Amino acid sequence: MAETNLRVLISADKIQARILELGDKISKDYPTGNLHMICILKGAVFFMTDLTRALKRDVLIDFMGISTYGRGKTSSGEVKVTKDLDISLEGADVLIVEDIVDSGITLNYLMHVLDQRKPRSIRIAALLDKPERRLRPVHVSYVGFEIPDEFVVGYGLDYAEKYRNLRDICVLEESAAPVSV
Ligand code: IMP
Ligand code: MG
Repeated sequence: MAETNLRVLISADKIQARILELGDKISKDYPTGNLHMICILKGAVFFMTDLTRALKRDVLIDFMGISTYGRGKTSSGEVKVTKDLDISLEGADVLIVEDIVDSGITLNYLMHVLDQRKPRSIRIAALLDKPERRLRPVHVSYVGFEIPDEFVVGYGLDYAEKYRNLRDICVLEESAAPVSV
């Protein structure tokens, strides 16, 4: 039987330090106007709450539910909106806040959907990026960390809904359990 192991890839301290840097950059890039931050549920919730508090300006927050993955590690390739926004995006500067860009299928789809709602501008902030895995093009304006092609959990990211509340981002590894005799 396989046993799971957690190996820290990015520590909680490193995550927080990088979010402060991103907050500074975003505050400078959007000095005025309404900034709508859209959190993609559920994985980006932790990143969203820390990133919004790292900004030195006012923001509007909203939430969107998207599902692409089933309960495992592989994408179904199908995108479904499970919860839509509450606030209109017309004329607004929009910043989509996502946990990780993997194949790019989710964000590529979402950019098209949200673009039709006539925002003034639309950009993406993603805590993690796995560029090797890209199947669809996505331009990410604010990237926390580029990571190799490994499955990670923690700080919002899950495996079958587990591990979201870990403070660090960890690689989920499977190791063979010792054979019992
Ligand atoms: P994409 O559409 O393939 O870019 O997938 C994006 C979504 O897949 C993310 O929002 C995550 O929910 C999920 N995902 C991709 N890679 C990982 C991972 O390493 N750990 C946990 N979730 C992941
Ligand atoms: Mg997600």
